[in-house]
Amino acid sequence: MPLENLFGSKGRLVLSTLLVCAVILELAYCQEEAQQQKINPGRKPKPSITKLGRSTNKSPRAVTAKPKIKTTAPAQTFLTQVLNRGKFKKVVDSISVQSGDTLELRCRGKPVQWSVPKYLEEDDEGRLSMVQQERYGVLTLVNTTGADTGEFSCYPMYCEDTDCRKEYDKAVKVFVFFPDPQELFVPSADYYEAIQLRTNWPTLLPCQVTSPQAKVTLHREFPPVEVEFDGTEISFNVKRGFTIHRPRPHHAGALFCVASLGNLRQSSTKYMLIYVNYPMAPPAPVIQASSSSVTAGENLRVSCSVVGEQDVAVEFTWDYPGQQIGRPLYTQDSISPVGGGAARQQSQSVLLVDEVRDVDQGTYTCTAQNLQGAKSVSTTVKVVPKAKPKKQKP
Ligand SMILES: *[C@@H]1O[C@H](CO)[C@@H](O)[C@H](O)[C@H]1NC(C)=O
Repeated sequence: MPLENLFGSKGRLVLSTLLVCAVILELAYCQEEAQQQKINPGRKPKPSITKLGRSTNKSPRAVTAKPKIKTTAPAQTFLTQVLNRGKFKKVVDSISVQSGDTLELRCRGKPVQWSVPKYLEEDDEGRLSMVQQERYGVLTLVNTTGADTGEFSCYPMYCEDTDCRKEYDKAVKVFVFFPDPQELFVPSADYYEAIQLRTNWPTLLPCQVTSPQAKVTLHREFPPVEVEFDGTEISFNVKRGFTIHRPRPHHAGALFCVASLGNLRQSSTKYMLIYVNYPMAPPAPVIQASSSSVTAGENLRVSCSVVGEQDVAVEFTWDYPGQQIGRPLYTQDSISPVGGGAARQQSQSVLLVDEVRDVDQGTYTCTAQNLQGAKSVSTTVKVVPKAKPKKQKP
C-alpha cells in the first residue's frame, strides 16, 4: 500500500493498529456551569446558561445546542484525555506523551483554530494534520519527538456568515511534554544564545525540558558553580525554564541548565547573559532657548535636557529651520550627575547658532531617545532685524 493511502486514512488506521495516546480537549462551557448551579442553588443563573446546563447534566457529549453566548459568561472549559477508545480522563494544564507516539487532540467547536509550538509551525515535516469534523476539530501529530514539546491551543471560532474570529477567552491550552529517553532538553539549533538582561525586566532562560520529571538546576560557567534559586530572585517553571525576575549586573555571564532523570544528566544550550542598563520609561526632554526672540547677528543657544537613570544612554537629534539650506550648526552634548541620593543623571544637548540670520527663525525640535522610546519637544525662536545704528539707544 502506498504511504499516501496509509496516511490519508490515518486517523482510524493509526487508532486501531498502534497504541495511540489520544487526547480530547472538550470545550464544555456548560458542565462546569451546571456544577456551579448545584453548589449555589440560590444564585440566579443567566437564562442561556440554565438551558445549556440542564441539557448537559448527565451527558456533556450529548449537547446538540451550540452555545450562542457571545460575551456573557466567561469560558468554562476543561480538557479530557482519552487514553484508549472510550477511556476518558480529565486533563489539567499539561500532559505527557511518550516521544514516538501519536498525539491526538480534539476540540469542540465549529470551526476551531489551532496553535502549535513555534518549531512545528515552521516545519512539521508532514507530521501534523488538522481536520475539522462536524462538531469538533482534530489535531494529529505523528512520529513525535522531544522537540515537539510545548503549548498546543485550540480557539473556537465565532462566525457570522463567512466572517469568523477567534474567541480568545474560550481558548483551551494544554502543555504537552514528549519525554525522550535520549534528549532531556528540547534541542536548540544554536550552541549558545545571547540574552539581554535589562534592569528590572524579567529575563527568561528558556531551557525547556522534554519531561516534567526531570530535575533541573542552573549553573554558571566561570567560576563553575551551581546557581542557587529560591523562587523569588530566580524561579523555575517546568513549562518555560528559569526566570531572573529583577536582573542586576551580577547576573551577567555564561549560564546553562542541567537536567537529570534516572541515569541521564544533560546540559542545555549556553546562555550568554549581557547586562544592559535599561530605562524604565522613554525620556522626557525639556527644551529651552536662550531667548525666544534674537536679534540678527547675535548667538543663540537651544538646550535640550533629560533627567533619567544613571548609565542609561540618551541620544539627541535636532530639527531646525536652517537645516534645508545647510546652516552649519553644532551641538555640545554632556552628562552630569544629579544630586539627591537616587542614581540619576542629566543628559543634555545644546544646539549653538552663531550669528543668527533670518533663516534661523522658526521651530527648533529636539528628539531624545533611549532604549524604551523617543520623545520630541519644540520651541519657536523669532529673529528680529538688527536695529539701525541711528535708532540705537544711547
Ligand atoms: C513516521 O515514521 C514512520 C516510521 O519511521 C515512517 O515510515 C513515516 O513516513 C513517518 N511519517 C511521517 C508523516 O513522517
